[in-house]
Amino acid sequence: MDPSAKGESPEVQDQPISPKSDTLDHGAGPAAKPAQAPVKPAEEHGNIPNAPETLESKSEGPEANAEPSTSEPETPYAAGPSHIEQNIEAEEDATSAGTRDNDADSSYGDEIASFTDSLSSSVLNYKYENGRRYHAQEDTQYFLPNDEKENDRLDLFHHLLTLRCDDNLHFAPIGQNPQRILDLGTGTGIWAIEMGDAYPSATVLGNDLSPVQPTLVPPNVQFEVDDIEATWCFSRPFDFIHCRYLAGSIANWPKLMAQAFQFTKPGGWVEFQDFDMQFYSTDDTFVPGSPPNVWTDEVIAAIKVFGREPEPGPKLEQWVRDAGFENVNHQLIPIPVGMWPKDRKLKEIGACDLAMFLEGLEGISLRAFTNARGWTSEEVLAFLPSVRKALCNKRIHALHDFHVVWAQKPMDAPELQT
Ligand SMILES: C[S@@+](CC[C@H](N)C(=O)[O-])C[C@H]1O[C@@H](n2cnc3c(N)ncnc32)[C@H](O)[C@@H]1O
Repeated sequence: MDPSAKGESPEVQDQPISPKSDTLDHGAGPAAKPAQAPVKPAEEHGNIPNAPETLESKSEGPEANAEPSTSEPETPYAAGPSHIEQNIEAEEDATSAGTRDNDADSSYGDEIASFTDSLSSSVLNYKYENGRRYHAQEDTQYFLPNDEKENDRLDLFHHLLTLRCDDNLHFAPIGQNPQRILDLGTGTGIWAIEMGDAYPSATVLGNDLSPVQPTLVPPNVQFEVDDIEATWCFSRPFDFIHCRYLAGSIANWPKLMAQAFQFTKPGGWVEFQDFDMQFYSTDDTFVPGSPPNVWTDEVIAAIKVFGREPEPGPKLEQWVRDAGFENVNHQLIPIPVGMWPKDRKLKEIGACDLAMFLEGLEGISLRAFTNARGWTSEEVLAFLPSVRKALCNKRIHALHDFHVVWAQKPMDAPELQT
């Protein structure tokens, strides 16, 4: 598809993509992979790593003369990676008959173990509950911990997702020389850091409630503590705004999208990536009402008590349209849970995803179940093994869906007025 085409990709956006479908290619071709150009030394950029004022005070990005990416994407317009498999086949020994829940042989056992082998003082005023560390703001603002265990889980998530997206850090066709990139709710900052490496032309700003990002980062990457639900006050707009995995974080998505629209350059791009939390299978091996379903229902209910949106994934496309973006694209990405897929790469992705759940179950559940759903921490810890057991059964071919939506601010939209 032509980069400048205003047309969208109905084959991707209009039909829910059935993982049962034989058709793997739902797009017009893969988005451009970011150029893996070496990062320039700090002197050349003239800015100091992690000095938040530099992003706003610099007159232009490191390569002021570089052509901005916002008018005509330089790479073929992408309706999504062409070969993100939608139909995930199970390996043979993951399909043989046997009872589902009580069959010890059907557990991953050691397989998963060997796989996992391979600002200011107020924002640092972390809270501790049930042995986990949390951000310093209102408890209801964000329900996941921000400790090392959680950060390892987020980095594992980044690894599995980039693997699933064929090493693409984004799908939006932002060209080779973007100038200003914003990563909302950056977490460990791993995406922002890799984008800084991939696009030396750009300054990349990642913001988050928690200052948990590393200090040793590429010179064109900066981090700030910020509440992205508050009113934004950047002095200049961005070529690309990225926002990934904020399920359970955001109370007012339409407001977030409106601010993203306001702070994107005309012709610039946004990309939102998020989950649908439901587990399912395409071969009836995942039984509704099983412990993972009970767990998901409780997490969703708890997040609603906190006043946040638990499952933004399926709603992203409409919100983006409502905010005024055009050239809206929507790619559905089923992610396997466990090592049941036959395909080697999908097996690795499934292994990472399972490891992410096994590592994350406690952190995801503790504050949510105890503060919002009336469980005791002992009850939570007693319940979680049943969820782990079900997820570790290789005869259960569980999947969950991830949604990626990217869209462009109209070229003729007014410039940012601050
Ligand atoms: C599940 S993590 C995802 C991190 C990162 N986007 C990624 O994909 O790896 C969600 C992040 O959003 C941050 N967050 C939640 N609510 C926020 C808010 N209102 N403002 C800024 N960051 C927020 C959390 O602190 C956490 O780091």
